[in-house]
Amino acid sequence: MLVNPVKLFKKAQKGGYAIGAFNTSNVEITKAIIEKAEELKSPVIIETSEGEMESAGANIVAAEVKELARGSKIPIVLHLDHGKSFEAVREAVRAGYTSVHIDGSDLTFNENVELTKAVREYAHYNDVAVEGEIGHISGKSAHHKDERLVIEKKNLTSPKKAEEFVVKTKVDILAISIGNIHGIYAEDPKLDFKRLLEIRELVRKPFSLHGGSGIPKNQVMRAIEMGIVKVNVNTELRMAFKEGIMHEFDLHPDEVVPYKYLPAGAEAVSRVVEQKIRLFGSVDKA
Ligand code: 13P
Repeated sequence: MLVNPVKLFKKAQKGGYAIGAFNTSNVEITKAIIEKAEELKSPVIIETSEGEMESAGANIVAAEVKELARGSKIPIVLHLDHGKSFEAVREAVRAGYTSVHIDGSDLTFNENVELTKAVREYAHYNDVAVEGEIGHISGKSAHHKDERLVIEKKNLTSPKKAEEFVVKTKVDILAISIGNIHGIYAEDPKLDFKRLLEIRELVRKPFSLHGGSGIPKNQVMRAIEMGIVKVNVNTELRMAFKEGIMHEFDLHPDEVVPYKYLPAGAEAVSRVVEQKIRLFGSVDKA
């Protein structure tokens, strides 16, 4: 069933696990994610960035996910990832998304508060959950093979600002910047657990960890123990989809039928989703 995630976050917080938020660009990836979550009896979040939503069409993404969720026993959330404007949020909510991330982290603190408050009022009125962002999570969901990982100090979440932001905006979940970055780089990220602890002492809300690709497993597990209930994963799925299809073309270079070569991409995505769901501890939590 398609659900608002607020209760799922509370349950995850109590149970000490996190829910995977997996980005999708097409129906093959969406189906692979949902089918794997069903097999593992795990709640799951399907998410699209603004780009992913525009490329497929918000109404089409929502229709696919609603149809897949209709016959499903697990809770499925459809989430807008990094919505940058009220208009993007409205498009997602009208299409039937059950959760939105309003990312005002490029704005000043006060502008971010005002935009997030407006989105929260509108979204809550429509029974849609809201994620806010304080600090800024940089990088693009891609394989930055030779690039060094650089996170500017000013982009890290300040515990005091996070407290003020949550009091003023009343968001349901907060995206924090603690050394995480979107994409995979030449070196592994190092999460700042001291900062996470300081944020947790001041903010009684569930937290989301963006940039879930490429963070070493032990760090992800520790972050979940410390209050992360949602982990976003995109780059690893994108790479798996591409590599699965490339491998298929190595085996059958003359294949032209999409429904014959696309399943190889979906199977590769499915394997990554399984690893992540097991790592996040949400097996049998549906
Ligand atoms: P990765 O691409 O690093 O997995 O990050 C995804 C993400 O955080 C989407 O918001």
